[in-house]
Order: sequence, then C-alpha cells, then structure tokens
Amino acid sequence: MKVLSVASEVYPLVKTGGLADVAGALPLALERLGGDVRTLMPAYPSVLNGVGPVSPVAQFEDLMGGPATVLSAEAHGLKLLLLDAPHLYDRPGGPYVGLNGYDHPDNWARFAALGKAAAQIGLGAFEGWQPDIVHAHDWQAAMAPVYLAFSGRPRPRTVLTIHNLAFQGAFPHTILPELDLPESAWSLEGVEYYGSVGFLKGGLHAADMITTVSPTYAAEILTPHGGMGLDGLLRGRADRLVGIVNGVDVDTWNPATDTEIAANYTVGDIFKRAINKRALEDEFGFANESGPILAVVSRLTWQKGLDILVEAVEAIVAGGFRLIVVGSGDRLLEGEFLAASARHAGRVGVRIGYDEPLSHRVQAGADALLVPSRFEPCGLTQLYALRYGCLPVVSRVGGLADTVIDANVAALTASVATGVIFEPVTRDALVKALVRLRRLYEDEPLWRDIQIQAMRSDVSWALSARRYADLYNDLLKDESR
Ligand code: ADP
Ligand code: GLC
Repeated sequence: MKVLSVASEVYPLVKTGGLADVAGALPLALERLGGDVRTLMPAYPSVLNGVGPVSPVAQFEDLMGGPATVLSAEAHGLKLLLLDAPHLYDRPGGPYVGLNGYDHPDNWARFAALGKAAAQIGLGAFEGWQPDIVHAHDWQAAMAPVYLAFSGRPRPRTVLTIHNLAFQGAFPHTILPELDLPESAWSLEGVEYYGSVGFLKGGLHAADMITTVSPTYAAEILTPHGGMGLDGLLRGRADRLVGIVNGVDVDTWNPATDTEIAANYTVGDIFKRAINKRALEDEFGFANESGPILAVVSRLTWQKGLDILVEAVEAIVAGGFRLIVVGSGDRLLEGEFLAASARHAGRVGVRIGYDEPLSHRVQAGADALLVPSRFEPCGLTQLYALRYGCLPVVSRVGGLADTVIDANVAALTASVATGVIFEPVTRDALVKALVRLRRLYEDEPLWRDIQIQAMRSDVSWALSARRYADLYNDLLKDESR
C-alpha cells in the first residue's frame, strides 16, 4: 500500500512540538508493517541543508505565485518528498513564525501550497508513484483532502489527523480567489467557516476519515467545551472519527542506549538512574540531596496549565521538592518562572529555550514529570517519562488520561500504577497530587515498583501503527467513497 503522509514539521529535520515527533516516527512504523510511505513536507532551508542528494520528481509552473519542484530525498530512514518553492519557504525564521516573532503573513499561501501539491501527487503528478492513501496532519496539511475532494477526478482515499484543534488555520475570505477552488467550495460542505476560510474546517468535511491522537480527546472534541467551535461539524461526522493514541520512537527515547545521558539504565539496573539525577543536580546548581526533583519540559502556554504550577511554586518548595522547568513560549510565564528561580536559587531551576538533549537529561534524572494541561490531545512528554522511569503527574484530560495509570489503591494493589492523575486543573488539586506523590516517594520499594511498571508500559508505535494500517485497509475496501 502506498501512503503519502503530509506534514509541516518532521523530526529530526524540523520540530516545534509533538506533531514533528509523530510525523517522523509513524511512517517508519508503517514501513515496518510493509507499507510504502513517503512524506511530503516544505523544503525549508534547514531541511534542504539537512538531507543528502535530492532528485526532482514533479514540477509545478505556478504554485501559489511561483514555480515549485518536488524533490525526492532520503534522510533518517524516511522517504521524503520536499516541496521546494523558494517564494514560499526560502526565508529565515521558523516554519510558521518569522524572525520578528509574528506568523509569516502568507501562511495561508504557504500551506495551501502544501495541500495543493499533495493533492497533485495524489492525482498522479509524480510519475511512477501514485498513493492509495493521502494522510494529512493538522491544519497545515488539511487542504490536501479539500483539493482532492473538489478535483472531480478519481482520487486516493484521504485521512486527516487532528493533533490540536486549537490551531485551525482560519483566514480572511479575501484569499478565496487565490486558492483556485471551484465556487462550490465556498459553502458549509467546503472551506466556508463563519465568513472566513477555514483550512482545518474544510479538511474535516472533505476527508474520508478523521483521526485524532487519543480516544479520550476524540470524545472531548465532540462537546462544546472541547470542540473549539468545530464540535457540531465533528458530531455530524462522528461515524468517521477515531482516536488512536500516539506512540514514541523507542530508539530515540531509550534509557538503555541514550547517548545524551550520564548513565544508561534498564529496569534491571534502575539504581543507576541516581547517576543521572546527580548530574542533573550539578547542571542546575542544586545540592546533592535525597528529596524528589519535579520537572517540566514543555511549551509554556495556556493549554499546558503551567500558570497553576507558578501558583504552586511556594508550596512545592515548602514541601521539600525541587523543580526544574525547561520550556519557552508565553513571555509572562517565562518571566514568572525566572522570578521563581531567582527567589529559590538551588531549589527551582529554569531554562528558557528549546533544548532537545537537555530534555533527555531531564527525563533520565528527574523523579517526576508534571503535565497539568487544560487539554491535551495526546501528549508525548508523559510517554517519554514513563519510558525513563520519571513518574508522570498529569491532569485527567485527553491522551494524558489514556496513557497514565493513577496510583490509586486498586492500581497499587494490582501493581499496575504508573503515575499520578489529578483533576480539576487547579493549584489545589495539583498540590494535593504532589502530597500523594510524596507519600509514594517515601516508600522506596513501592516507588521502585511504580517506576518499573512505568518503564514496562508499551509506548511504542507497534499497536497504534497497526490501527492506522487497518484503517487504511478499511478505506480501500470501502467502495462507497
Ligand atoms: P505539544 O506538541 O503540544 O507541544 P507534546 O507533549 O505532544 O506537546 O510534544 C512536545 C514535544 O516537544 C516533546 O518531544 C517534548 O520533549 C518537546 N519539547 C517541548 N518543549 C521543549 C523544550 N523546551 N526543549 C526540548 N524539547 C521540548
Ligand atoms: C499536538 C498536541 C499534543 C500531541 C501532539 C502530537 O501538538 O498538543 O498533545 O501529543 O500534537 O500528536
């Protein structure tokens, strides 16, 4: 089966969050199941520099205002199709944001182009390789199913995965003529969205199948509270929506072989984790002591609920914990965490920025990872934490609720607990969860058992990739579409 995966970021070539991790790992897992998966992504300058030799496989004279070439390349085991359109992607800054910190003003054109090129490949533009399935990720790729649905031609089946409903790609209706869609696309069944053009909205209507990244999030987005304005549409398509929980790349994230950490370890010699804890203490200027270290590795945004952590800092320090925060985002939150670290030098350590190797050292050395998200489609950091025996303390939402087993009495009795879950997302509930965590930590053999259970959780792609493969197969069998 030939699958075209379409994404705006792909680890390790370009990453701003979990989407890249998934777009980089799922194709490899599907290939292991026998699929032929190619990944279409924009040829940002850093991507072109990060791959070896390229060869052109398709050409567009005019793709949203300039010429474009699809370049085939291989890197990190991935079969890539790089959309080289210098007028759209050859510029400094990140994949979405310019050097001035603002969104690129033509993001609508940059990602309409991605969808359009995907659709053209779906219709046969790459001679000798026509996909059976086009699988688009998030709003940046969501126009692929739209262009295919409105092409009026026999087309591959389409899947659209929602990684985060908060980002919808809505733009002023004035861009409509530039999109080169038939008039019928300006409708409830097309891209029209409360008078704007909605890329995600259009994709959700057009795709043959919608997936999201956990079963609980799949249920949450059907409610007005979680649906972010799209719940009505999604309820109408509920028979076409499934939640499949993400896996992680268990080679990149493996405490037994991780080259970023001071000491490798397995469940068999988990005591060696202490070496990583000590290294982390040294790195953050903490004394070597026995109390637990809590950590955060995250975008600092409202979604992640970290403002309640700011409110809890005094209680955390008073409770004998130390806290490490690695992240960037909201300037106000960055400032509040920096102020907390100044107030509590040696007990609160903060690194503002994006640092992949440090994220590994934190997972290997901290005792617990905090993820107090208000909503969380899946979440990957708690999965890395499980794998590294860094116990996750998470709110009961989305994928967090689906991947962590709370250390309640029943779970402890059955020896299946892997972390601590709390609700609601408030300072008080978080502090109470930490009191519970502290009690577990004081009981050394019990803590060790929970760590081992966490490390034994299957966070690989094996099961979930199989579910995607089944879904593709079902779509191909379904003659009605
Ligand atoms: P989201 O995609 O919503 O940001 P996820 O938990 O799915 O949340 O994925 C976040 C990814 O980004 C993880 O791989 C995490 O380790 C990484 N990450 C987030 N912030 C940082 C940071 N400051 N430094 C290094 N890695 C980070
Ligand atoms: C989004 C979500 C996150 C999820 C990731 C990968 O960024 O916020 O919860 O893990 O996508 O699917």
